[in-house]
Amino acid sequence: MGTPVRAAPARGRFLSIEGVDGAGKTTLLDALTRALQQRQVDCVRTREPGGTPLGEAVRVLMLECDMQALTETLLVFAARVEHLAQVIEPALQAGRWVLSDRYVDASYAYQGGGRGVARARLDTLAQWLPAALRPDLTILVDVAPELAQQRRAQARTADRFEREAGAFFARVRAGYQECVAREPERFLVLDGTLAPAALTAAILVRLTPWLT
Ligand code: TYD
Repeated sequence: MGTPVRAAPARGRFLSIEGVDGAGKTTLLDALTRALQQRQVDCVRTREPGGTPLGEAVRVLMLECDMQALTETLLVFAARVEHLAQVIEPALQAGRWVLSDRYVDASYAYQGGGRGVARARLDTLAQWLPAALRPDLTILVDVAPELAQQRRAQARTADRFEREAGAFFARVRAGYQECVAREPERFLVLDGTLAPAALTAAILVRLTPWLT
C-alpha cells in the first residue's frame, strides 16, 4: 500500500492594506490581526518595503537616502520579488493568510502619483510579478491629506516621505483612487475618520464569505 496522499491545504487569502502616511492603517492592522486570530485564522503579518532581510535594508534606503524616483521604483519592486518568493507565496501555499502593510498599489500611489513615474513603466514592472499572487482584497484607508498630516505631526520623527509637502500626499491619494477605479472589485475603501473598531467590523463583514 502506498503512503496516503494528503490533500494540499487550500490556498490562504492575501490581503493588503493601503493609505497615505497618517491614515491609521497600522492601528487598523493591529486590530484586524487580533480579530482574525480570534477566529482561528493563521495569519502572517508583513510589510512593504520590508518583510525580508533584503526588503528591510531597502526600506532603510528608501526612508533615508535621497534618490531618483526611478531608483526608488526599481528598489521597491526588487524588494517585492524577494517578499513574494520568501514570504508571501510560501505562506499562501501553506494555507496561511497574508496581511501586508502596503503592496503594489503603494508603488502606483507614491512613485506614480507622488513622484510622477509613468504608469506604463509601473505596469511593466508589475507584469514581472506572478499574476496569481495579486491580493484577494486591498483595504484602502482613505483620509483627507490635512487630517493625515495632523496625525503624522503627533507621531514620531518624520522620514523622507513624511517630510513631503501636502501636495505630494494629495497626489498619492489621487494615485490610490486611480487604482480603485481600475479594479474596483479588489478594493474595500474605508473612511479613515471612523474609529478602528468600526473599520475592523466593516472589514470582517467583507471577509465573512472566506471565514466560514
Ligand atoms: P509606511 O507603511 O508608511 O511605514 P510607517 O507606517 O512605519 O511609516 O511605509 C513607508 C513608506 O514607504 C511610505 O511613506 C510609503 C513608501 N512606499 C513607497 O513609496 N512605495 C511603495 O511601493 C511602498 C510599498 C511604500
